Amino acid sequence: MFLKVKTYFKNLTTKQLIFRLCLLIIPIVLYTGFIIFIFSIPGFKGLIMWADWVREYVIYIILFDVLLFVLILVDFFVASVKKAEIKRLPSIVMTVFLTLGLVISMGGWGYFGTIPLQRAVGDKAPQLLILDGVGANNVPNMAVSFYTHDRTTKTLYWGLTPSLELPEKVESRASKTHGFLLDILEPNTTYFYKINEGIMYNFTTPVNTPNYARFAISSDLHFGADDVNRTATQGILENIIAHKYDILFNLGDMVEYGMFDGHYKEAMDYMSPYVSSIPYRPVIGNHDTFFGGKTFWRDYFSPELLPDTPRDYFHINLNGIHVFVLDLEWGTETYTRAQQKWFESELSPLSDDDWILVMNHAMYYSSGYFVDGEQWWDNEAMITEFEDLFIEHDVDLVFSGHNHHMETLNNSGIVYNIIGAFGGHMDPDYHNKTVGQEGTGSLWYLTGQHGYLDVEINGTIATITFRTPEYTILQTFIVVE
Ligand SMILES: [Fe+2]
Ligand SMILES: [Fe+2]
Repeated sequence: MFLKVKTYFKNLTTKQLIFRLCLLIIPIVLYTGFIIFIFSIPGFKGLIMWADWVREYVIYIILFDVLLFVLILVDFFVASVKKAEIKRLPSIVMTVFLTLGLVISMGGWGYFGTIPLQRAVGDKAPQLLILDGVGANNVPNMAVSFYTHDRTTKTLYWGLTPSLELPEKVESRASKTHGFLLDILEPNTTYFYKINEGIMYNFTTPVNTPNYARFAISSDLHFGADDVNRTATQGILENIIAHKYDILFNLGDMVEYGMFDGHYKEAMDYMSPYVSSIPYRPVIGNHDTFFGGKTFWRDYFSPELLPDTPRDYFHINLNGIHVFVLDLEWGTETYTRAQQKWFESELSPLSDDDWILVMNHAMYYSSGYFVDGEQWWDNEAMITEFEDLFIEHDVDLVFSGHNHHMETLNNSGIVYNIIGAFGGHMDPDYHNKTVGQEGTGSLWYLTGQHGYLDVEINGTIATITFRTPEYTILQTFIVVE
């Protein structure tokens, strides 16, 4: 067979050879390249691990690639045994498959490759982001971040009074992504700011009392989905603003589909009136990065203000309370070696007496049930990867979303909390599912109820309170450092 194919190639002129190879090789290179490309999309590995419908499509796409390779070999062989020297074009069957391969790969490249360019019309409203590090006066730095549809140069005016008396900040070059750094902040002080001649906002910095902080935490807003409860979201946000927390953490799945910029626009326009007035830290979730959504996320929530600042994971130090924000979207699939090295090196100088809080989207211990044939209770990979590290460094509190319910679990003295209740649909009770299981160490579980977590740390005591959107207490736990 190989001899025949060899002879066949020998008998072709250079022109015939190039023509024939181009016809066969261009589609298969484009198609195989498309497969490599989709695997390189941030968050894709988790998507195929956890979503069986995506996994099925990917298997079909790969099988078709294998089929193309096999058909090419068969075509060469058939051509070589059939007066090959005059046969310059692939067979009809081959041509059909190659055309199909071309159409799929060009369509795939065209759609997925241009997602970062498919922006919703209009500007995206400002958000006040808390940055990593400790900051001057023990007040972490902040940034006013927003996105304009057109490249523009903006000016931020700010001050301790509405006359905005501090030196204005003018951007040095026109850009679509905007991030104004607010640094050297005074504790327990109200700042006013506005962008160009826009709305006047104000926010108050945290007090700088050692080991004191009040956080509001919730997760899973899913902007863009139909089955949401925005009355609950509004109630939660109004109470968070009214009760003056130091930081609002939003633990991911802000949008339903990360590849649709319109979902991001809806989320940011809705959230801006609230999160332009309170230090805010959104955390990346699996829905936020769907099919290339991470590009949008980084533009909107990780402005490149400082060259050495990690963009997807952070260590905020507020009054000696260490908050680690990790990029764990479905589970350990996004726990890169770089992130692991960074996390371990940030943990290592901390002492057993320090408050250490870990926040990320995917859950560790949790009650749950089967979704898409996967176990959505205790995530064994997450537990295996992190539990020993948490025990070694005496991590105190862990917060996640991803599962849409509320829960507190205690394992080895580490208190894990689930708060996927910011206004997305609520998960059904796992007790009512054919295959469902209580999470190991579960102390309290509630679903069907939206709300948020109110965490107050004062000295050696942390008070964790689950609240409804109307501020009613659902459950309280006390944790001693
Ligand atoms: Fe979610
Ligand atoms: Fe999620």
